[in-house]
Amino acid sequence: MPAYRMGGLNVVGIYDVNREKAAALAAKFGIGKVYGSFDELLADPAVRVADFAVPAKVQPQLAVQAAAAGKHMLCQKPLAEHYEDAVRIAEACAEAGVKAAVNQQMRWSPGIRASHTIIRRGWLGELLQATIAVNVKQEFANWTWLRDMPTLEFMYHSIHYIDAIRFLFGDPEYIYADGARFPGQQCVGETRTLLHMRFPGEARGLIHDNHNHIAGEDDWYATFRFEGTEGIVKGTNGSLYNYPTGREDTLSYYSKRIDPDYWFTPRLHGKWFPHAFMGTMGELLRAIEEEREPENSVADNLKTLQIVFGAYLSMSENRPVALQEIASGAVAVKGA
Ligand SMILES: NC(=O)c1ccc[n+]([C@@H]2O[C@H](COP(=O)([O-])OP(=O)(O)OC[C@H]3O[C@@H](n4cnc5c(N)ncnc54)[C@H](O)[C@@H]3O)[C@@H](O)[C@H]2O)c1
Repeated sequence: MPAYRMGGLNVVGIYDVNREKAAALAAKFGIGKVYGSFDELLADPAVRVADFAVPAKVQPQLAVQAAAAGKHMLCQKPLAEHYEDAVRIAEACAEAGVKAAVNQQMRWSPGIRASHTIIRRGWLGELLQATIAVNVKQEFANWTWLRDMPTLEFMYHSIHYIDAIRFLFGDPEYIYADGARFPGQQCVGETRTLLHMRFPGEARGLIHDNHNHIAGEDDWYATFRFEGTEGIVKGTNGSLYNYPTGREDTLSYYSKRIDPDYWFTPRLHGKWFPHAFMGTMGELLRAIEEEREPENSVADNLKTLQIVFGAYLSMSENRPVALQEIASGAVAVKGA
């Protein structure tokens, strides 16, 4: 809602199974209507786009219903808790001819968006290495519903890093993942992870996340670094510093194609939270207007999910996983 307010978007109405929560949010943000049921929302012709912010386990059913009612939609990440449910959403939207996107807003965080521009201009040359490294203290148990999730970090957090790296480097062929806990942690699922991605050719990706940092903020980091034969981009993800207030993203880049002796450090404006949420919804609205698929379409998101579910398969069987294994459904994903 803060992002939509910044973007001047017209929020027609709101629905939650918990009516009091919906009413409180409506009052806080001046939303005109609180629907009594989801059917009532779907029956309102003023609603052209449904924006879901519900638990992943209920999303497939709601999304399929919304598609049948002819509503375009922005779904939350993760799109579904099971790969086949995510495919079901993609198929229902294609069949109904509605545009459907996923709220993987990190693609629109200032640091990642700027990196994309730099890469597109060819300033890094041939892409070789994408690294996102995070070592922070952020208690997943603060989101009470996350406490009992057996699949935690990849599914709910690194999914953003996975999607951001796919946005910049394309799709890996293989991944290899490992996850662990911190002694005495409140959550059931993994809170320390490593993900290695192998792209066609020489490009590789690495995501490392530890959410249990034991010292102060002076020693924590949330960084990204993208390297090629001709250049490097490096920066920080401001939302994970000075949490929850955050700070603006930072970025520096170097390119032999521009100057062999100089690092450029432009000032970026905005953060992953909340500014980037204007990007996901904005892209969907533009795609509807321009009658094209959104860049963050549910169909595209299936590939991000193949990496997430592949990561759990890799962890449970301690082996590299080809994304094709998940896509073809040849292997049942354990633990997901
Ligand atoms: N893109 C992001 O960065 C981002 C950030 C936060 C949360 N999320 C995602 O959003 C989802 C919700 O997370 P949250 O922290 O807001 O959870 P939450 O529990 O605070 O809110 C979920 C809301 O959904 C309502 N709800 C449950 N079932 C419903 C149904 N059938 N119909 C209507 N409403 C229903 C609940 O009453 C609750 O108000 C999660 O999947 C999470 O991954 C994404």
